[in-house]
This record gives sequence, C-alpha cells and structure tokens, in this order.
Amino acid sequence: MYRTHTCGALRISDVGQEVVLSGWAQTVRDKGYMLFIDLRDRYGVTQLLFNEDISSPELLEQARSVGREFVLQAKGKVAERASKNDKIPTGEVEIEVTELTILNASSVPPFTIDDDTDGGDDLRMKYRYLDLRRRPVQENIMFRSRLGIETRKHLADEGFLEIETPFLIKSTPEGARDFVVPSRMNPGQFYALPQSPQTFKQILMVSGFDKYFQIVKCFRDEDLRADRQPEFTQIDCEMAFVTQEDILNTFEGLTRHLFKALKGIDLPAFPRMTYDDAMRRFGSDKPDLRFGMEFTELNELAQHKGFKVFDSVELVVGINATGCAAYTRKQVDELTQWVQRPQIGAKGLVYVKYNEDGTFKSSVDKFFNTEDLKGWADKMGAQPGDLMLVLAGEADKTRKQLNELRLEMGRRLGLMKPGDFKPLWVVDFPLLEWDEETERFYAMHHPFTSPKKEDVARMLSGGHETMKSLRADAYDLVINGSEIGGGSIRIHDRKLQEKNFKLLGFTDEEAEAQFGFLMGAFEYGAPPHGGIAFGFDRLCAVMNGQSSIRDFIAFPKNNMGRDMMIDAPAPVHPEQLDELHLAQTKID
Ligand code: AMO
Repeated sequence: MYRTHTCGALRISDVGQEVVLSGWAQTVRDKGYMLFIDLRDRYGVTQLLFNEDISSPELLEQARSVGREFVLQAKGKVAERASKNDKIPTGEVEIEVTELTILNASSVPPFTIDDDTDGGDDLRMKYRYLDLRRRPVQENIMFRSRLGIETRKHLADEGFLEIETPFLIKSTPEGARDFVVPSRMNPGQFYALPQSPQTFKQILMVSGFDKYFQIVKCFRDEDLRADRQPEFTQIDCEMAFVTQEDILNTFEGLTRHLFKALKGIDLPAFPRMTYDDAMRRFGSDKPDLRFGMEFTELNELAQHKGFKVFDSVELVVGINATGCAAYTRKQVDELTQWVQRPQIGAKGLVYVKYNEDGTFKSSVDKFFNTEDLKGWADKMGAQPGDLMLVLAGEADKTRKQLNELRLEMGRRLGLMKPGDFKPLWVVDFPLLEWDEETERFYAMHHPFTSPKKEDVARMLSGGHETMKSLRADAYDLVINGSEIGGGSIRIHDRKLQEKNFKLLGFTDEEAEAQFGFLMGAFEYGAPPHGGIAFGFDRLCAVMNGQSSIRDFIAFPKNNMGRDMMIDAPAPVHPEQLDELHLAQTKID
C-alpha cells in the first residue's frame, strides 16, 4: 500500500496512529540533529520529522539525500508538533518517520514550486507539469473539475441530454478564422474544427432532442488575449419550444446554482439592460456593474459656449470620479496621457475639479464660467470633492474611449472588489453590424440569430437603413465586465434564413454550399428554438476574481498560440505532407 492517508488528512485527533504517506518533497530543512521534510500532494502538506532520538543514523542519512520534488513514501507515527503552524489544516501534527522509501528522485526544478514562484511565464509553460504542482494552479484545476461536474448535475436534473457533436466538420462562421484539417482520403479537401457546435445543436432540435447541452472544446484562430485561447471550452446549450424569456430564466438558474454550489454565494436576480442602454450608459456591451460612474451626455450644456473642440463634435460625454478633486496636476496630466495612448486614441481629456469649497477648477475655465460648470456638476450628480472627466468626438468612438477611462478609474480607485459579483443580461442586440471599411453587414451574434418577431416584416421588405435598425432576440450574460455567455433565438424558417445569408453577402450558391444541410433541415419541421453558450474557462476565472483564463486550463497555449511544453505547432514530415496532398506547401 502506497499510502493510508493523503498529505492533507491528518489532524490532532490522529496522534498515535501508524500511517503511510506518499507525495513530493516540497522543502527539506536540515537542522543537524533533526530534519524536516514537507511532504506535498494535491490534498495538502504534512511535515515529516527525522531526529537522532527516533531515527536510525541510516534513516537520517537517507533523509539527508532527499532533494526538492523527490517522490517519497514515509511510514511513521502521527505526533503532536512542538511548534504548530496554524496556516495549514495539518499544522498541529507531524509524522515521526520510521521508514522512508525514495520512490523516485527529481532533478532540481527550474523554478520554485510554491504559491509565489520565481518562474517566468515561458518557463512555467514549458514545465507545465511542475507549474501544475503549485497550490494556486492546482486549486484552479480542481475548481474547474467541480464546476464541470456541478454543471452536468444541474442540467441533467433540468432534463438536459449531453450529446456529442463532431470535431471534424465544415466551417461554422462565428466571426473568427477556422483551424483546418487536411483530408488524406479526399485530396485537396479540408475539414474545419468547430468554432462552436452551433449548426449541430440546431439540427438536434430539428431531430427532437429539445434540451441539449455539451461541455465542449471550440477552436478559433483569432488573436489571443488574457481571456481568449485558440481552443477553449463552452457549456453549449440549446432548447426547443422556448422564448428568450425561458432561456434567460433557465441559465440564470444554472449560474445561480453554480455560484451557490461552488462559492456559497446567493446571487440576486440578474438585471437586464438593452444593448442601446448599455452603450449609452457605459460605452460597452459588457459593463462592469460593481461600480457606477455612469456616462452623462453634456452636449446641451457644453456646446456653443465658445469652445470649438466641443462645438463640432457629435458627442460630449463625461464621468464623475467621486472624491478625486484633490488630484494633482501631475495625476491629471498622467490620465490625459493615458487616454491619448494609441490603444485608447482620445484626442484630449477635459477635467473639472469640483473643489471642497464649492469652487471649480477646470482645463476649460476660459470658456465656461462657474455657473456653466455647476450645471455640468448637477447633471452628472457631482458633489464638492469630485472630479469630472469629459471626452468629446464621434459618438461610438468617444463612448468606447470613455468606457476604457471608466474602467481605469474603477481600477485606480479600487472599485472592482474581488468577491463582489454583479451579473447582468444584455438584451436586444442589433441583428446586423455595418462595417464601413468592407462596406458590408456582419452578423452581430451569428448568421442563425433571429430578428425580433416585430422586426421580421421590416427585414423581409426593408432597405439598407432599415437593416441597421433591426433588433435580434440575442443576449449576453455579463459578470463583472466579462462576457461569460452569449446566445439567441434562432431562425427556424428557410425563407428568413436565406434572406439573412443574402444580407450577409452570401450568394444563393454559397449559402446552399455551406449551409444547405441546415436550410434543408428547416424544411422538415424545425421547431422554434434557441440557446446559449457559456465560456467555461471564463466562468472559472471570473468566479475566482481573475482575468486570465490560462491558469484554469491544464495545458494552455501562449500568446503566439504555442504549446511550449510539447512545442507545437511544429513542421511535419515531408512524407506526411505528400500523403495529405499538401506537397506543394512544403516549407524548408
Ligand atoms: P459566442 O461566440 O458568443 O457564441 O461564444 C460563447 C462564449 O464563449 C466564450 N468564448 C471564448 N472563451 C475563451 N476563448 C475564446 N477564444 C472565446 N471565444 C468565445 C465567451 C463567449 O461568451 N454558438 C454561439 C452560442 C449560441 O448562440 O448559442 C457562440 O459560440 O465567454
């Protein structure tokens, strides 16, 4: 038997027991007459004690040969510790070792395997198996496992079936590039890895499996960020005979259940906000509602008072930073530079300090008198002691810039409290998005999303401008400013689907070649249906107050899409390329 207990199990009540533990040597502390080894496994750490009174000279010598990360088996008696460690659950006891087996030696690890490590990102990714031994990462991976199990339990209780869909498919457009896989048996032809199981889950609805879910890998060849990986996991769901309301309630229920089961948190009912309101009030379709700092539009008060910069623009809009009137010149300049960085791209920043004594000091004092500025303050709900920050320009761009500034102020003022969870449904997304550069419409969610019932007639008959105003039964679940999930009610009528493809620039032939199977299925009794997909990795990260999903994925890719441990992607053998009929793409 390798072990009678784990390294996290023993307590003061076990004193006197003979036990066997197995694990990794976290630290070895040699005090001469006695020696301690912290033995670690995924359950915890237990202290092993060797000393001249209880251990033979051979045993002591053997213990002295142990290095960091050696795999050990230790037999001995549980004893009460002389100096206790109240930071760990096993901290009151230690094992007086009588027998030690070195199960395997270890090279010196390239970084410290501890909560705080000295290893840089690349090194930790290369030695991911060592990084995964660290407590915080282990906790993340264990959390993920529990979250998956709870999700399955809850959805199964709600009558959902888990059904697998294929990975070798034809392209499904979700807005990113596909990863493609050459077919050996079909020269010159390629599979695409699914960006999501979207079309398959809709087909399952046509087949009558009215409640489907899958915890499933999705693949998207897009630029990577902290919250994006090229392969990631969704809790993918679809239901038939449902309205948007049914779906929102069902998945609010799932979210609430997961927070309760995993964090012991009772989330309140999720507020709903239309896309238009979210953009107007926060400049974002995923506002972080842990703090206010809502936008106030100042056009009426600020235009045509002689300040040219404001007069010619579409929008003058500001936020109020509570208690920041005491910002120094240097701090305000720094904020100005911050919004002027190319990533944000604002031309400038107007500030108005509403001093404690009721006076105003602003960067536009030449153009606005105290009465004017008091008017701004009243509209923005500013009090003495506050700092108003105002941007101006083209409406959409300015709102996006002010959103960035709002989030930055939220960070600087410590308003994004960890442990505080503010979920939100954003609803009524536009159906289509016009892109000036390519001069075409893109699906705001995806091409299978249904316009709102009341917009169907306008969609079938309307002109270009009408198309811009169509609203969809599409919704996002946002928690703390992160888009956790998105979904929609789908089109289930062939004619409407054809029309949508046409608006998106598909010719009839292209639509038929790519999605003929789906439109064909719609001809055989497709029920009304809709669904949603949660980003599973993101949900893990957000529930733990973290922004990077990497540490919740056992084997993630780096920013270049590389797996540093297995060193992929990598060239393949020329023969393999031949076999795949790709010889002409050979690279030296
Ligand atoms: P969508 O494209 O909005 O919808 O994706 C759903 C959720 O998946 C997560 N997500 C990602 N997570 C990590 N890395 C990525 N690269 C990545 N891309 C997306 C986000 C997002 O909200 N088929 C539709 C769903 C539906 O309509 O039912 C879909 O995939 O959290």
